[in-house]
Amino acid sequence: MVSRAFAKKVRIAPSLLAADFARLKDQIAQVEEGGADWLHVDVMDGVFVPNLSFGTKVIETCRSISKLPLDVHLMVVEPEKYFDAFAKAGASVMTIHVETAPHLHRQLMRIKELGCAAGAVMNPGTPLDSVREVATDLDLLLIMSVNPGFGGQAFIPEALGKIRRARALLDAVGSSAALEVDGGISRETINACWRAGADTFVAGNGVFGARDPAAEIRALRALCAEMV
Ligand code: DX5
Ligand code: ZN
Repeated sequence: MVSRAFAKKVRIAPSLLAADFARLKDQIAQVEEGGADWLHVDVMDGVFVPNLSFGTKVIETCRSISKLPLDVHLMVVEPEKYFDAFAKAGASVMTIHVETAPHLHRQLMRIKELGCAAGAVMNPGTPLDSVREVATDLDLLLIMSVNPGFGGQAFIPEALGKIRRARALLDAVGSSAALEVDGGISRETINACWRAGADTFVAGNGVFGARDPAAEIRALRALCAEMV
């Protein structure tokens, strides 16, 4: 199980959606060498988002290849159907979309019961208020900076305001939850997100599209330290 006191540390979480699956083991070794903190695993069901990706088997495979925490992002309807299987497969964090979680509190509690850290995420068009009542229960709050479903999309600048408001919300309730941002994170966007208050950065194409993924992770991390 990963620690639940997540805040105040820069974490880089490469998204495996952008990895070359023919050489997944090598790609994971590259990001480990670069100091990746978590592996971000995007689960898509073709219903909540217009794309299919992977599920239990790939989580299991990643678990067998790497000791890094597996940050599983569930872009699926009825996410609770998968909690047990994903926890058993080795998920460390499970993050669910508020748009598909009418029983958000119950669902977060179930994730924790299974020994995983519990996260909530919302689409760019969904108000931050949707997590206000569970703010103290969150181990992680994820702000989408693209509409979920595909890697390689452009960062939506309005996400910065939402990150700022999310940071204020977590601080106001004394939460040590991680504040993560996902979508279009690159050398061009990471510093603004860091300054807005995010501490955990998902990067798919930004890392795996780079000539040297390990060096790219180091570069992204260094940019967070810069208060430019
Ligand atoms: C989008 C996924 C992201 C995606 C990010 O639906 O949730 O995690 O892999 O990819 P990039 O970093 O390429 O925008
Ligand atoms: Zn994701």
